[in-house]
Amino acid sequence: MTDATDEILSLADHYLPVYRPRRLVLERGQGARLWDSEGREYVDFAAGIAVCGLGHNDPDLVAALTDQACRLWHTSNVFYSEPPLRLAEELLRASRFAVRVFLCNSGAEANEAAIKLVRKWATAQGRGPERRVIVSFRGSFHGRTLAAVTATAQPKYHAGYEPLPGGFRYVDFNDVAQLETAMASGDVAAVLVEPVQGEGGVMPAAPGFLQTVRALCDRHDALLVLDEIQCGMGRTGPLFAHWQDAVVPDIVTLAKALGGGFPIGALLAGPKVAEAMQFGDHGTTFGGNPLAAAVARVALRKLASAEIEANVASQSAALRAGLAALDEELQLFSEVRGRGLMLGAALAPAYAGRAGAILDHAAAHGLLLLQAGPDVLRFVPPLNIDDAEVADGLARLGAALRAFVR
Ligand SMILES: Cc1ncc(COP(=O)(O)O)c(C=O)c1O
Repeated sequence: MTDATDEILSLADHYLPVYRPRRLVLERGQGARLWDSEGREYVDFAAGIAVCGLGHNDPDLVAALTDQACRLWHTSNVFYSEPPLRLAEELLRASRFAVRVFLCNSGAEANEAAIKLVRKWATAQGRGPERRVIVSFRGSFHGRTLAAVTATAQPKYHAGYEPLPGGFRYVDFNDVAQLETAMASGDVAAVLVEPVQGEGGVMPAAPGFLQTVRALCDRHDALLVLDEIQCGMGRTGPLFAHWQDAVVPDIVTLAKALGGGFPIGALLAGPKVAEAMQFGDHGTTFGGNPLAAAVARVALRKLASAEIEANVASQSAALRAGLAALDEELQLFSEVRGRGLMLGAALAPAYAGRAGAILDHAAAHGLLLLQAGPDVLRFVPPLNIDDAEVADGLARLGAALRAFVR
């Protein structure tokens, strides 16, 4: 490593030590490739964390950002500007269900808004606090703010942050009987669910599960809230993952790929809840920022295209075929699961807990990869990744896995 890179990395001690990034400094990206400060090239199967849906340095996103940067950066929500208004209209039209939008800055902030909207809606129905319970699923991830992390049904994210906000209840993912029991007493105001759990190990909702959740919500007068922050915006193929499940939600939250790498989040509200929050009930300084909105408008148009949907299907098949061939050679995986370009390779019991070690080998072989817990390799490349980039990434993965097994 050069002295210059060493010097940059020495600054990492200034951070609150909540992250442990790989010891390399990324400098530049183009499509699904990145280069570090040492000039090394990487194939990007991570896309941030499922954020850069259009890869790096997309010319249309750059043009939208630089054009807006020369006009207007910020007004806050005491004045209107055009880009967020246009984005709101375009998101509603694309969503096929929502009638109002709340723009914010991150996934956690979108889920926080969803939790508050559920509570306001239930309040307006005359339900006391004890009848405003939100059910979420074990293995879920909904963000790090206090309410979003409480909705995140994984004890490791709660430890040490108690007292947590009340009114959350957890059940096993894809377990209809447990959900029926959890909702039986009539105190549930909403069910919050990722159509494909991301951080929890790339675990898709079982076929028909979301339809059952929808039916139970209807029976118990509860809202269906879908967290599509990781699995939405074309990641599974169609613009919204829940289109594959054929359900109509009451609320959907988005972030990550919505801004193609520029921070933005959104809450989409259906007709049942759209009027539940009124003037003064919620807000944010930066949400609906013109820069973010200008970029997101272009990202939305491109990610909603038939070309992206077709590419996700074909590259997903190529990635699955490559992973199957590697597994046949090395017997590393117990299962490859997921949808579209959100795939997880669960490690066989002999390699349990070794995902981090595999990621080290991958980086050393010029491949940026993620894990989803200690036992699952997560593949979330840019959605416009091409044949050559997938083939190159798989070749690098093969070399990394062989080195790991040795
Ligand atoms: C499904 C899901 N929801 C919410 C979040 C939180 O988003 P953010 O990190 O932007 O707050 C994430 C982030 O990984 C996520 O995957």
